[in-house]
Formats: sequence, structure tokens, C-alpha cells
Amino acid sequence: MFFIDFFKKAKRLRLFESSIRILGFFFVTVCVIFCFFWLNYRNVPIRFPSQNERFLWLRFGGGGGNEGRKKVDYLSENNGRCDVFEGDWVWDDSYPLYQSRDCRFLDEGFKCSENGRPDFFYTKWRWQPKGCNLPRFDAKIMLNKLRNKRLVFVGDSIGRNQWESLLCMLSAAIFNKDSIYEVNGNPITKHKGFLVFKFMEYNCTVEYYRAPFLVLQSRPPANVPSKVKTTLKLDQMDWTSTKWKDADVLVFNTGHWWNFEKTIRGGCYFQEGSKIKMDMRVESAFQKSLETVVGWIHSEVNTTKTQVFFRTYAPVHFRGGDWRAGGTCHLETLPELGSPLVPSHTWAQYRIFANVMSSHWNELDLRTLNVLNVTHMSARRKDGHSSLYYLGPNVGPAPIRKQDCSHWCLPGVPDAWNELLYALLLKHSAKKSTNSSTFHAQAV
Ligand SMILES: *[C@@H]1O[C@H](CO)[C@@H](O)[C@H](O)[C@H]1NC(C)=O
Ligand SMILES: *[C@@H]1O[C@H](CO)[C@@H](O)[C@H](O)[C@H]1NC(C)=O
Ligand SMILES: *[C@@H]1O[C@H](CO)[C@@H](O)[C@H](O)[C@H]1NC(C)=O
Ligand SMILES: *[C@@H]1O[C@H](CO)[C@@H](O)[C@H](O)[C@H]1NC(C)=O
Repeated sequence: MFFIDFFKKAKRLRLFESSIRILGFFFVTVCVIFCFFWLNYRNVPIRFPSQNERFLWLRFGGGGGNEGRKKVDYLSENNGRCDVFEGDWVWDDSYPLYQSRDCRFLDEGFKCSENGRPDFFYTKWRWQPKGCNLPRFDAKIMLNKLRNKRLVFVGDSIGRNQWESLLCMLSAAIFNKDSIYEVNGNPITKHKGFLVFKFMEYNCTVEYYRAPFLVLQSRPPANVPSKVKTTLKLDQMDWTSTKWKDADVLVFNTGHWWNFEKTIRGGCYFQEGSKIKMDMRVESAFQKSLETVVGWIHSEVNTTKTQVFFRTYAPVHFRGGDWRAGGTCHLETLPELGSPLVPSHTWAQYRIFANVMSSHWNELDLRTLNVLNVTHMSARRKDGHSSLYYLGPNVGPAPIRKQDCSHWCLPGVPDAWNELLYALLLKHSAKKSTNSSTFHAQAV
């Protein structure tokens, strides 16, 4: 009896074993097929279903109950209830809005795909506000809005990131690319000062001024300690401000240079009036500089003519160290599912700005300052950075410990900021024309 039992058990066991083997074989086969597609997706055209429903699992909170209801268009909702900065990233097969190889206005460092980035998912996400639908970006409409006008970006290299994104988005609608040119003949790459690109057909310019602190950085006064190499004059605007204060649209950004490394460590101290504040902390200097910017807009800018935007801090996503300590983001290929992994200084930068805004909110003219509140939405896009792919097509990926998790690949996240800028500009001009005369209300 015992023997027969044992024999039966052994038989069953072997049967079990062989079914495990079959299962294992099946599993390995599926993995191989999957990897084959994964590694070859650049060559094998996998079509994703165009409905966003398939990607519902990638949505974040709040989506559920609203799916059935059709959302109102942002441009036609009048009660100002839709917060376009609150929403989700949704997969959209019709994106990106342009291809980097078709755009001549890109620094090499932003052309991730051409620099060897293997995945393209980061180009496929569209920003979907929770309460309404954004207008689809139409370069011709925007160019018509900008006819005979100047649109100016002022800020650090992330502002330059956004500026180049807009140049690509707009130039996609221009057939004769030679009709877009830098007015001083300067090349786009590695240029340090300012660049003014003209769209000839529309007599409009889209400009970038490098002013990472927004306030004036200059040589220190005489008789200061020798460790003071330069100072930031917290009560004066950058010297280029006279060049752009009359622009029709101004888009500010700052933040990435307001840290110890890029100021005090390099001998750059803070100055108010003629006094050097040797002990002033970077955070309070940043706050004072923002108050200067706000005060300057209040007193120097004709906000009837000039529409002023302030883009909030764009988050960085270094994991396991900061930019000097080998932090990485190169393995990120999808937006964040849970709460975003952003360094706390991102929120510190954002909060300093938000505090300055709220403490000046009652001054009437500040209502004309528009906030491009991109910090939260971009915080979920850890997949959007240049990471290893910023060195140019002939150099290859950067060393693992020298990643760029601050700047963004293009096409990519800054395109979404510009789509929001576009929506706000259209909304603004729709409001204005409704008020001044219904006759012009339809004009674009
Ligand atoms: C920016 O957007 C976030 C997310 O919607 C929101 O929590 C925050 O209050 C907004 N801040 C400002 C200044 O509008
Ligand atoms: C082109 O635009 C500028 C303003 O940026 C304006 O002063 C000038 O008159 C415009 N030229 C024409 C031909 O409309
Ligand atoms: C401000 O701009 C508007 C529109 O261009 C113009 O009519 C007005 O005269 C300007 N105001 C000042 C004080 O320059
Ligand atoms: C438009 O008119 C409404 C009232 O009719 C007013 O509250 C609003 O401030 C006006 N907007 C502008 C931009 O003039």
C-alpha cells in the first residue's frame, strides 16, 4: 500500500512538474516576444489605441466620475471656474505637435531622440485639465494673434527650453522656413545673450533674454571683502529690462540659479542699495528679488498693452543625489503614478513665489499678472528630462553619473506649458474683444 501511494504521489508530482515546465516555457516565450517588441519599437510600428480609455490606469485621482460627462471648452466657459493647471496627463496618439528633426530652432541638448534616447513615450502625453478642455494648439491662430507684436521670454535656461519649444510649435505652420530668422544673424546654439527670432509673414518676434536671476548681477562696489566677486542687486532689474519692458507678451521665469552653489559659493553675494549683505540667505534674497520684479511690473509696465506671465518653478527629478552627486532619471519612461518624487527644494522655490504672490494680491495691477502654474503638473513628468541624451547625435549618451534631470526633452513637457500660454492668450483676447465691441468678438 505504502509503495503504491508513494508511486501515485511521485507520478502526480511529475505531472505537476511538467506542467510547471510548460508554464515556464510559455512565460519565457511571452517575455521574449515582449522584449523583442520593446527593443524594436522604434522600427516596429505599434499602434496604440487612440482612445484615452486604455490609459485610464495612468490617470491620477478625480478622473473617475467625470468620464461620461462632456467637458466644457475652456474658451467658452465664462465663470472662470476651470483651473487649467489642475488635471492629468493623458496619452494622445496625435502627439507630439512637431518632430525635433523638422525644427531648426533647437539646441542639440534638447533633441533627446536624436541623441539616442530609445523610448518615445515622453512625447505622447497631453495635458488634460480636470474641469474643461483646452483648445487644440493652432500655430496659425497664435501667429495671427501675434501679428506685429513681440513675445518675450526672460529667465534662465529652462525659459530658453520653453522658448525653443514655442519656436518649433509656431514654425511648424510656416512653409518657407527661411522666412524665420534671428534679426542679428546669431546662431541659436550656445548663444549667451539674447536672441530675437522674426516670423517675417506675421511681422512678429519671439525673443529670449537670458537673465537667470531677473535682477541685476554686476561687479561689486570698491572696498568689499575679496571673496565678493559679483553681487546681485536685489532692488534693480536685469540690465536688459529696458529692451523688453514694452513687449506685448512677457513670460518670466526664475529659480534654478537661486541656490547656494550658483551664488555664494561662487563669490556672488547679495546687495541692497549700496550695502552688501554678507549674511543674507539665498531664500530671503530670492524673495526680495521677486518683490522687485512684482514692484517693477506694477510701476514700469503698461499692463494695458503688455500681458505679463510668470511661469512657476519647473521641478527637477534627480534620484539618489542631486546634479553634482550623480543623481539619475534616465530609467524613467512613464509619468509618475503616485505622489511625485521631487526634491523638497522644488517646493521651497514654489512656495517662496506663491508667498510673494499672495502678499501682493490686493494691489490692483497684480490681477493683470498671469501665473503659468506649471510646477505641480510638471512634477509628475519625471520621464521628461534630457537625462543621458543631451550631448548631440555624434557623441552618444553621457556618463550615468552626469545626468541632466533639470532640462526637458523637446518635443515634450514645455510644449504643454506653451499650450496653456496659448489658451490663456486666446481667452484674454476673447474677453477683451467682447468688452470693447461685440463686432470684433469673432476676430482672431
Ligand atoms: C497651482 O496648481 C496647483 C495644482 O492645481 C494648486 O494646488 C496650487 O494652489 C496652484 N497655485 C497657484 C499659485 O495658483
Ligand atoms: C511690425 O511690428 C512692429 C512692432 O513689433 C511695428 O512697430 C511695425 O510698424 C510693424 N510693421 C509693419 C509693416 O506693420
Ligand atoms: C498703455 O497702453 C495703451 C494701449 O497700447 C495705450 O492706449 C496707453 O496710452 C498706454 N498708457 C501709457 C501710460 O503709456
Ligand atoms: C469686461 O466687462 C466686465 C463687466 O461687463 C468687467 O467686469 C470686466 O472687468 C471687463 N474686463 C476687461 C478686461 O475690461
